[in-house]
Amino acid sequence: MSIASPVRNDVETVLVTEREIEAAVDALAAQLTEDVGDRNPLLVGVLIGAFVFMSDLLRRFDFPLEADFINASSYGDCTDPGALEIVCEMMCDVAGRHVVIVDDIADTGQTLKALMQMLQERGAASVRTCCLLDKPERRTCNFQPDYVGVTIPDQFVVGYGLDYAGKYRNLPFVGVLRPELYESGTQ
Ligand code: IMP
Ligand code: MG
Repeated sequence: MSIASPVRNDVETVLVTEREIEAAVDALAAQLTEDVGDRNPLLVGVLIGAFVFMSDLLRRFDFPLEADFINASSYGDCTDPGALEIVCEMMCDVAGRHVVIVDDIADTGQTLKALMQMLQERGAASVRTCCLLDKPERRTCNFQPDYVGVTIPDQFVVGYGLDYAGKYRNLPFVGVLRPELYESGTQ
């Protein structure tokens, strides 16, 4: 029996299925385990979008680590880390730590580039960036995440933590909404 889903009905195309996400998270977890599994890393999720990915990624690790979150976004020139607006600061001290910034998507790259610079300035021993999704066509600065799950075309996507106007984060896959929903700005 299929149950009508008002959220799923808004999706025109599923771009990354649940299975594809699982496979991508498995591969990222395996690579990160190899690279930082013996370094007691500090994983820093970028709120809000990264919370679903972060929780799935973390549960694939069986080595000691710490987890933290920061809510920040960059509105300015990506060469200027001062353009980073910190909405909610992280708790941990990064000095001397091997940090992995975990985000939902690399779009223009500005937020992650500025965050990386900020954590380096705070004295992190190393800073890596890990994104479930990458939209390289949208890049406005010289930035490439160290770990990418799935590369996607230049389309605005929702689901698996990513929102449109605050909604659709609860979809278990990544999809594109019907165009009239974006155009009308429906909330
Ligand atoms: P940036 O442009 O790379 O700095 O991306 C900043 C943030 O914008 C990302 O971490 C996402 O939270 C959000 N974002 C970028 N592209 C999309 C999208 O296609 N859907 C939903 N959120 C997005
Ligand atoms: Mg984000």
